[in-house]
Amino acid sequence: MAPTSTAVDPMTMRRSMGRFATGVAVVTTQTPDGTPHGMTVNSLTSVSLDPPLLLVCLTTGARSTDAVTGAGRFAVSILSARQEHLALRFARRGEDHFAGLEVIRGRHRVPVIPDAFAHLECDVERHFTAGDHVVVIGHVRHVCERDGQPLGFLGGRFGDVVDRGHDPAPWFC
Ligand SMILES: Cc1cc2nc3c(=O)[nH]c(=O)nc-3n(C[C@H](O)[C@H](O)[C@H](O)COP(=O)(O)O)c2cc1C
Repeated sequence: MAPTSTAVDPMTMRRSMGRFATGVAVVTTQTPDGTPHGMTVNSLTSVSLDPPLLLVCLTTGARSTDAVTGAGRFAVSILSARQEHLALRFARRGEDHFAGLEVIRGRHRVPVIPDAFAHLECDVERHFTAGDHVVVIGHVRHVCERDGQPLGFLGGRFGDVVDRGHDPAPWFC
């Protein structure tokens, strides 16, 4: 095994965590005047099943981060394999990510990404700053799922998630 340094700089941290394959999602919300905001994330994690809680880590200072904590409500749209262009659109810093896009709202009136693999609409349960990110814990109020394939992300690249076709794991039986 290659030697590991004790001083972990940001690029090393990013590279190493990039070995943890994830899906890709867009966190969306709106300001009180109805302006939609969104940002691409892969820090999405399930926290609790009962109550249903999830978390996302949003960089401090991003407009979407302030919009989410200010609104107290957000949606997570898990992107499908065909939505790489939306992952890139919602990752461009400082741009109007919704420019030219029709804004679709979910059951709780929060903007969501059309044709996503799944939507989860959440109330902000709590949030706190950890290092250079804000950890946002969301209480899931409504979910919507579609058939299809998710978009994957590994080593800084988008990819497909391959279904090996085995039987479900025992805990699903
Ligand atoms: C695949 C991918 C995953 C990302 N995951 C996160 C994340 O989990 N948290 C985060 O703060 N930024 C993440 N980013 C970066 C943000 O999408 C980007 O900085 C953001 O859209 C900037 O928004 P702003 O214009 O509101 O500043 C990710 C980018 C990509 C391409």
